[in-house]
Amino acid sequence: MESKIKIANNSYWVGYVDDRKVLFHRLILEKGTTYNSYLLDTEKPTIIDTVDIEFGRIFVENLSNMMDLSKLEYVIINHVEPDHAGGLPALMAKAKNAKIVTTALGAEELKKMFKLHNREYVIIHDGMTLDIGGKTLQFFETPFLHTEETMVTYCIEDQILYPCDQFSTHIANYELFNDLAKEDITEDFKVYYQLIMHPHRPYVQDMIKKIRKLDIKMIAPSHGYVLRENVEKYINAYDDMSRAKEGKKVAILFSTMTGNTTKVAKLMAEALENKNIVTRIINVDNADVDAVVEVIKESDGVFFGSSTRYADMVGNLETILKQLKDLDLSGKFAVAFGSYGWSGEAIEVINDYLKDTNLTVIDRSYIVKTTGMDDIQVPIRVKFKPEEESQTLGRTVQAIGDILVG
Ligand code: FEO
Repeated sequence: MESKIKIANNSYWVGYVDDRKVLFHRLILEKGTTYNSYLLDTEKPTIIDTVDIEFGRIFVENLSNMMDLSKLEYVIINHVEPDHAGGLPALMAKAKNAKIVTTALGAEELKKMFKLHNREYVIIHDGMTLDIGGKTLQFFETPFLHTEETMVTYCIEDQILYPCDQFSTHIANYELFNDLAKEDITEDFKVYYQLIMHPHRPYVQDMIKKIRKLDIKMIAPSHGYVLRENVEKYINAYDDMSRAKEGKKVAILFSTMTGNTTKVAKLMAEALENKNIVTRIINVDNADVDAVVEVIKESDGVFFGSSTRYADMVGNLETILKQLKDLDLSGKFAVAFGSYGWSGEAIEVINDYLKDTNLTVIDRSYIVKTTGMDDIQVPIRVKFKPEEESQTLGRTVQAIGDILVG
């Protein structure tokens, strides 16, 4: 592949094709991938994203053959993961006058990752524009797509969206544009979405609302094909795939000592119903065990909660939990919760019971592995009474709800 390919007037692909089997997020990318970087060679030359850290040196060598890097004005970092920001230290070493354009969080992370504390940063906010002399760039924050600091860049004159990971494919293609692809890339495009973006689908919907207001004739992502044919089809695919499925059912089953666990159950039900999840709350101390088991069988997800007394559960919940081992509950999700005064052992005991079934247990490990969010605490533990406006509880239940609606 040439080291520079024109995508629009004064705009070029200057990335790297990695045609090996690439290790990536615990996967092996059988078709390889590309790290697409772009040079907008305007009066204020600008680079959008770099390449993987492994290819930073060759990337900078190629750029040096194209231009005087001391004249580079801006380097835009849409996403700080090392497969895109990895070439930044090598680039900034040569581009002595360049400013880094990114989100506030992106800047903090780049400083820590690459010790770039002494460089000048332009911190973007949603909708901000930047004149690069002959072209105007507009920036939009797209948090959690797929990490918290992420943003996208839009060139107003060229009508090109540069969304980094979003709208990517993992294919080591040498023909760059999707209309030149030798085979249909739709499946690769969807697989990429499912693996990387789908765990964050509510944020995909937020992003879609922002970019629907733009006239986009080309999407130039940072992996795989540049989309210049059927652009609308790819935007619609993200829109469709990220819409919540209707009609999911959840049961919240609990035993309580003072009523605080009931309050937790009610707050959780409210948050789940806001996501159009049909929710039933059952105090199992007042219910028939067989009827509760039937409710579990009919549900897509079940929350099991108890207060803690003498380091254990209270009431009838344990009777229910003991039945689960003998049931086929595959495909259903389960979450442990409860309120407590001192140590909250009952919640951990419930979680142990759940792990001994074929339910899919949503706990912290599951959340980190499926969404990358490391600040969600599950099982849900509420000390004493839950706050009506508890943001921690709300955010936790929202994350679980997103998993449930699939
Ligand atoms: Fe392609 Fe999130 O890195």
